[in-house]
Amino acid sequence: MADDRAVAVTKDELELGQYIPLHYHFNMLNDAYRTGAFEEALALVVPEGGRVVELGGGTGILSFFAARKARRVWCIERNPELAGAARSLLRANGAADRVDVLVADARDFVPPEPVDVVVCEMLHVGLLREKQVEVIDAFKANYRARFDGALPRFVPEATVQAVQPLQQDFAFHGYQAPVPLFQDPHSLQPRTTELGQPQVYSSFLYEDFLHHEIAWRGALPIERDGTLNALRIVTKNLLAIVPTQGRSIDWLMNYLVVPLERPREVHAGETLELSLVYRTGAPLSALEPFFLD
Ligand SMILES: C[S@@+](CC[C@H](N)C(=O)[O-])C[C@H]1O[C@@H](n2cnc3c(N)ncnc32)[C@H](O)[C@@H]1O
Repeated sequence: MADDRAVAVTKDELELGQYIPLHYHFNMLNDAYRTGAFEEALALVVPEGGRVVELGGGTGILSFFAARKARRVWCIERNPELAGAARSLLRANGAADRVDVLVADARDFVPPEPVDVVVCEMLHVGLLREKQVEVIDAFKANYRARFDGALPRFVPEATVQAVQPLQQDFAFHGYQAPVPLFQDPHSLQPRTTELGQPQVYSSFLYEDFLHHEIAWRGALPIERDGTLNALRIVTKNLLAIVPTQGRSIDWLMNYLVVPLERPREVHAGETLELSLVYRTGAPLSALEPFFLD
């Protein structure tokens, strides 16, 4: 019998969007790039009759995909409202006999037996706000303390991030408002001029040792004249790496565009030195890029 006692929530967690109410889940369910990529990855990675843990189950859709092949799925969700919704949705979709929805903090949960796959989607562009790195790190430590042998396979397996110099139009009916914004990577962005290519500044392979701090200092080549007044953060999750096919099943998240405090004129051919330092899971305001020249 499931025990739905609420777990303690801090003010920080509420503010950082760790508690995503049910009515926001539509956007996640409806994001075909996200949901379709997880569906494809789980179909490939979950072994027939295998065992799976989902950390941060939400409405239960990823557990449902896993349960198409797995014989047992533990779906861990800290928000009792969502756990209740997941249980009834999984029942309505014929997967309740294979998926156990448990109200717990994913940082404390250890499955009762070893598992083949762990799926965790606590992802936000920049690896900001949500606690993907912290939760997977805690899960690995707890799992290793309980079980010998190899770690399960993680979905996503890796996250790669890049930064791109932009000239962004922040004018709204004559009102200049340089505010952070999100962009759909699959749509044209008429307000954005790309001044150079994205440069990779961080990569996480979830089965490896995980740093919680991102600290990058690197070159940002400029390919086009313009006013550099914003940086775009690009986050790509490699949900499943398929070496035999020379490909990966990826989910490219919405871009984050952060305005720069001091815009500057730049010219094709010059290279800027940029520093990016922040902690994963931190608020958007923690992202304070600065140029070294
Ligand atoms: C981005 S949503 C993803 C939901 C679902 N996996 C999906 O793909 O639609 C992240 C979920 O993780 C839950 N969550 C956040 N922190 C958690 C924690 N420490 N333990 C368990 N669940 C958590 C949130 O309540 C939310 O439902």
